Amino acid sequence: MRKSKLKRFAELDTFTNVLQNFNFLQPVVVNHEKQIVDPKGKWHSTIFKNNNPIILELACGKGEYTCEMALADKNSNYIGVDVKGNRMHRGAKRALEEKIENAFFLRTDINIIATFFEPGEVSEIWITFPDPHLKKGKDPKTFN
Ligand SMILES: C[S@@+](CC[C@H](N)C(=O)[O-])C[C@H]1O[C@@H](n2cnc3c(N)ncnc32)[C@H](O)[C@@H]1O
Repeated sequence: MRKSKLKRFAELDTFTNVLQNFNFLQPVVVNHEKQIVDPKGKWHSTIFKNNNPIILELACGKGEYTCEMALADKNSNYIGVDVKGNRMHRGAKRALEEKIENAFFLRTDINIIATFFEPGEVSEIWITFPDPHLKKGKDPKTFN
């Protein structure tokens, strides 16, 4: 794996606006302190600390839409979801640097997304440009 990619993974692990699942067969997420946390039902109270609607962008890639939508609509909370940490790194870093507090990122396979939200916790779901094709040679559990 390229050094730059490894650097992005290492940085992503420290970002306070990211929760990560590393294996969809073990549906748990860890925070920037490597602690297992259970965000289900707690996104409003513990992550965003407001009661604004939560909007998911599934397959957010580098998080451009997540960041831009969050900036354009401060009265909603946006969560960018993608399985690829090196892509998500860009959006999550931007959100931290620009203090976009209504944007957050969840690294997980979308197949287990329901594990992390209570029914009714999410108001809208966006899928802007999905790519369902797994490339040859990738580990289907981790996408790395
Ligand atoms: C073509 S990119 C689109 C990125 C972004 N939506 C955009 O429009 O710029 C597709 C994204 O889907 C993500 N993806 C594909 N299958 C996924 C899955 N099962 N779970 C999470 N993300 C997935 C890929 O990692 C990739 O970043």
